[in-house]
Amino acid sequence: MDRDSDMQVWVVVWIAGALPLVGWLLWRLNDVWYSRLCLSAAKLPPGHMGLPFFGEMPTFLWYFKALRRPDDFINAKRRKYGDGVGMYRSHLFGSPAIIACSPSANKFVLQSSSDFIIYWPSVELVGTRSLGAVEGAAHWRVRSLVSTAINQPRALSIISLTVQPRLLAVLKSWAQKGRIVGYTEAKKMTFENVAKLFASFEPGPLVDTLDELLVGLIRGLRAYPFYFPGTAYHHAFRCRKKAEAIFWEELERRKKSRVDGSKNKNDLMEELMKLKNEEGKPLMDMEVIDNIITLLVGGYFSTSLAMMWALYYLAEYPDVLQKLREENMQISQEKNDEFITSDDISKMKYTNKVVEETIRMANIAQFLFRTATRDVDYKGYRIPKGWKIIVWNRYLHTDPENYDDPMRFNPDRWDAPAKPGTHMVFGWGSRLCAGNMLAKLQVAIFIHHLAVGYKWELVNPNAQMTYLPHPKPADGVEITFSRLGKA
Ligand code: HEM
Repeated sequence: MDRDSDMQVWVVVWIAGALPLVGWLLWRLNDVWYSRLCLSAAKLPPGHMGLPFFGEMPTFLWYFKALRRPDDFINAKRRKYGDGVGMYRSHLFGSPAIIACSPSANKFVLQSSSDFIIYWPSVELVGTRSLGAVEGAAHWRVRSLVSTAINQPRALSIISLTVQPRLLAVLKSWAQKGRIVGYTEAKKMTFENVAKLFASFEPGPLVDTLDELLVGLIRGLRAYPFYFPGTAYHHAFRCRKKAEAIFWEELERRKKSRVDGSKNKNDLMEELMKLKNEEGKPLMDMEVIDNIITLLVGGYFSTSLAMMWALYYLAEYPDVLQKLREENMQISQEKNDEFITSDDISKMKYTNKVVEETIRMANIAQFLFRTATRDVDYKGYRIPKGWKIIVWNRYLHTDPENYDDPMRFNPDRWDAPAKPGTHMVFGWGSRLCAGNMLAKLQVAIFIHHLAVGYKWELVNPNAQMTYLPHPKPADGVEITFSRLGKA
């Protein structure tokens, strides 16, 4: 061997030897860096901050995207660090974070709206004055109005009858097509319904445009707020501005028609325009617009995903569908084919259990995000001020300690209530979903009409699951769809 090749061998040996050391140092660096913040008696919850800059994002994506076993992300932590406190330190979505993933830890975070405030990477997309972003009295005021307008028994009874003609027409059109993508069609139907209920917009080009704009907006909600052409945030921001312009125009039209003495519309937007604060002042125009956009966004994606999952699970579990048909056919005959009412639904035990189980398994809101407003101690551990808290609700619903055989679609498990604190599909505390009853009602009406009039099969029963941003089969639940009784 000459001198040059000797040298090369040494370099290779040094690099091979140094690499693990550099890797180890990088791995330790982030953890040591963040642990130094906590020099008080309280220490950070167990866990690891991952790599500098990337944190645990690569591991998170590994479990959620590559392995498609999202719950093993938390299972791995439980195995490694134990599950005493129900919290782990981490670095995710670009910031240091505490993961809360046990009934008591999640409740602790969600019930304290002053220590842990809602976190949005780009609040301007949500609307700085919307109920999804504001705190305190402003939050409470709009929330109670919205709840009365869309989530209380009187409102639900009117809504249940308003949505059915369109729902029936849509199901008929699915049967005429014969083959549909459940998610795409459920989204279109839900959006048309909420656009009508909340702003009296009739299906047509305007609603289609608004639909596209809100889809663009939603895609950017959790994106890094980098205003540069081509980024999700940039696109979302532009969509938001265009959606706002549509509502500004509608608002001006309504104000003008008030002056002209025309009859007011009877919808949520009108109620928001009438709402007064404690000093008797109405909401500012921008408050009305921010809230109506938030409500459309909130009421749209989540409900369509729940409907998509109902199509999926009822196709996968024919015995459940059979029992559902029996209950719904009976009520349909008793009512002589009149529309079903919210009162009828409240009496349909099996149907309600199917709705509950669908929403549990759908895990639509997998995580909720909060920021600590001060240093908070929990069971001897410190949650530092400014850190993000990721409330990992998904894990509550898939942990075998909380639900027996959790991945089995079993509506009968709802014969008994869930263990305390293990059911947070609609969140918890002061920010509990403002449309939870409306969502359940819409899913119940949907499965009622499916069960009494239609049959369907999955085109790709083995379609892969995707988990980000929401759990969904990769094909969006493609089905063949026809009327019951037809070959
Ligand atoms: C199956 C369907 C739905 C699911 C799974 C769902 C889930 C959730 C969750 C988990 C939260 C809490 C967010 C947090 O704490 O950060 C929430 C809040 C909210 N949801 Fe829903 N939701 C659904 C349907 C709806 C519907 C139909 C509406 C109707 C407008 C709606 C409107 C809202 C609003 C306005 C908030 C914010 C409440 C506040 O901050 O006070 N959601 N939802």
